[in-house]
Amino acid sequence: MSDSLMIETKGMTKEFGKFVAVDGIDLRIERGAVHGFIGPNGAGKTTTIKMLIGAIRCTRGSGYIMGQPVGSVAAKRLIGYSPEHPAFYREMSALDYLVYMARVCGVAGDVERKAIDLLDWLELGKFTESKVGGFSAGMKQRLGLAQALIHDPELLILDEPTANLDPTGRMSILGKLRETSKERGVTIFISSHILGELEHLVDSVTLINKGRVVAEDSMQNLKEAYSKDRYVLKTSDNGAVLDAIKARTRSLISDSWIDEGGFIHLVSQDGVSLKRQVVEVIRERGALLDHFSQEEVTLETIYRRKMGLEAE
Ligand SMILES: Nc1ncnc2c1ncn2[C@@H]1O[C@H](COP(=O)(O)OP(=O)(O)OP(=O)(O)O)[C@@H](O)[C@H]1O
Ligand SMILES: [Mg+2]
Repeated sequence: MSDSLMIETKGMTKEFGKFVAVDGIDLRIERGAVHGFIGPNGAGKTTTIKMLIGAIRCTRGSGYIMGQPVGSVAAKRLIGYSPEHPAFYREMSALDYLVYMARVCGVAGDVERKAIDLLDWLELGKFTESKVGGFSAGMKQRLGLAQALIHDPELLILDEPTANLDPTGRMSILGKLRETSKERGVTIFISSHILGELEHLVDSVTLINKGRVVAEDSMQNLKEAYSKDRYVLKTSDNGAVLDAIKARTRSLISDSWIDEGGFIHLVSQDGVSLKRQVVEVIRERGALLDHFSQEEVTLETIYRRKMGLEAE
């Protein structure tokens, strides 16, 4: 166990009867990181998160938050948590609710001032006295974030915090999370299905499927690994150019196809020779080259390939 890590788990497992929902997960999340936790429905994300926050016990293995065993009071104090489906006391005002939660967490000092500042920051300043029952999904999500931050946690654990929001609401929450990470130095562990947005927030990811870790790395390493040996080009005569490249450089290319957007994809371990051949073929055919680059992979592509939905 290392207390230089914010989260560390070793073989963390959860069984519900005979069903293994989380199967020996090892996590090592650095302090200050923004870490994405992704996987399909039923992969075990929420179950893992519930073990991390100490809401349920692991069947086997262990987990630590800054060296404190998960479920201990010391570990819980370090965590701010926003659940998948936040539930509130409908009749309470946003401010009363936050003040109440702050007191439950043992926050000292001027709790009301702190709650008002937090609501202002989350653009709920006009609704401090409004009953939570009348809040929209986006407002509830923001209040959930306020509740998770009220005691200045070291670690923010968020289970799909933008799932029910429209694009504007999502952008706003993601902006707040970026600010929380940069300005408050809070470590963020976030599960989400919205990979296009997550990609611009996280610096590392864990991908799980059927309770097991399928991939774990920094975004940079993953992107490099997945764009290596992959090229895309677009020409004025894609079909003929691709046929000619294949005829000339059969052994250079291990895979090739033309996508729906009209881009030729080439997989080759010898990029230098490939570039030379491409230039020659285009000149010979009298075609025009519109685009040539290394493939830029998105988190969505990495996810699809790792999940076997697309060829690796
Ligand atoms: N209390 C429980 N009893 C029995 N099975 C459970 C329980 N909680 C979760 N499971 C099962 O464990 C598996 C993992 O569920 P979990 O909620 O962790 O998935 P998830 O990755 O969060 O999925 P989603 O993306 O849909 O939120 C699922 O098959 C689920 O049905
Ligand atoms: Mg879930």
